[in-house]
Amino acid sequence: MLLIKNARLLENGTPVTRHIYVANGKIKKFLRPSDKKSVNADKVIDAKNNYVLPGLIDAHVHFREPGMVHKEDFLSGSKAAAAGGVTTFIEMPNTKPPTLTVKELHEKRMLAKKSIVDYGFHFGSSTDNLSEIKKVWQNEHNRIASTKVFMNISTGKMLIEDDVLLKKIFSASKMITVHAEGKKIEKAVEMSNCANRKLHLLHISLASEMDFIKKTKKASKYTVEVTPHHLFLTERFVKDRKNLKAIGKMFPSLKTQKDRMALWNGIYKGFVDTIGTDHAPHTIEEKSVDFDKAPGGVPGIETMLPLLLDQVNKCNLTLTQTVNLTSTNPAKIFGIKNKGSMSVGHDADLVIVDLKKTKKVKNEELFTKCKWSPFDGLSLKGWPITTIVRGNVVFDGENVICDKLISKNKNHRGGEIEFNH
Ligand code: DOR
Ligand code: ZN
Repeated sequence: MLLIKNARLLENGTPVTRHIYVANGKIKKFLRPSDKKSVNADKVIDAKNNYVLPGLIDAHVHFREPGMVHKEDFLSGSKAAAAGGVTTFIEMPNTKPPTLTVKELHEKRMLAKKSIVDYGFHFGSSTDNLSEIKKVWQNEHNRIASTKVFMNISTGKMLIEDDVLLKKIFSASKMITVHAEGKKIEKAVEMSNCANRKLHLLHISLASEMDFIKKTKKASKYTVEVTPHHLFLTERFVKDRKNLKAIGKMFPSLKTQKDRMALWNGIYKGFVDTIGTDHAPHTIEEKSVDFDKAPGGVPGIETMLPLLLDQVNKCNLTLTQTVNLTSTNPAKIFGIKNKGSMSVGHDADLVIVDLKKTKKVKNEELFTKCKWSPFDGLSLKGWPITTIVRGNVVFDGENVICDKLISKNKNHRGGEIEFNH
């Protein structure tokens, strides 16, 4: 039994202090500090009246394994997740090879066992894997989050431009996540409406896209993701850099201040459902070539929560909005059972945050293998100080705790999650 005492929680939006009891990796009960009942605990963590939030669920990461493990792998990526308060991630299929067959999915599953936080997978689509898409949704629909469809060019060779095939892919899938930009989001929405399928629009970056979303979202079945880099950076980030401009290259690209403000407005008005990091590490060497030749993508899983907590401190966002966007809504959208909120019976995936801690993002302190962040040098107020996955501490504010735990007890590994679509 684990006891997290003096935890500040939001109860219907109101802060309260509770002791949280965790048994067998699940939240067992909440007691008031005034309750005299004592419960034997083997381990006690004093949250010291800091907020305890449900662990973040990052439904959009590229952890590069197999095939590009010089940039990231499931262990390094999951360490970065733990340091960022992320207790579950869902991995994208544009690896080498890409996850386009059931066999490749099974192989990736074996590789992911090294993860120290929980995980799941999106399945890939290409011009020639329709039969595999059908097979995976027939045989293991609860073990994939979505079919990921690239309707715009990006890292990897997974672009699909044939509308007839796109329609077949949408029909064969219970849920689709799509990389579509500009007008193409309209096509994706139309196709999901026709096929009557759930659609999650990834990394919305334009004011014009947000306008379309505001007009159509109520009548449709789709949900919307934005990324931290589009919320916090604009094209100026690239223009102002003297060297290594490609640090600011990603797909979709960074946009104008007007676009950035439209995304925040979408959050305030309730049109944005999730924030996903699109954590897409590339090495500094790979980024050190001409802008046009450099790969697109930025790491982000370690900095999402401090960036958002800093906004909470600045009164630009509430803690409740933060939790909904990064945990509760991803769990609902992908049908992840027992996660996404702090309820009795749910997995004890928790992050203790110190809203007063001020610290700079520093490249050298990051756990991602690529060891850089577009936010390097930025001072932020509000940091995760303890991350807990199913009752196991995986990050203590400075160190990722895995090697010792893993050798002692296999259960300290992350595990694969299931999806109820
Ligand atoms: O910037 C991006 N990088 N966008 C994507 O869609 C893919 C990602 C990557 O894998 O590098
Ligand atoms: Zn992505």
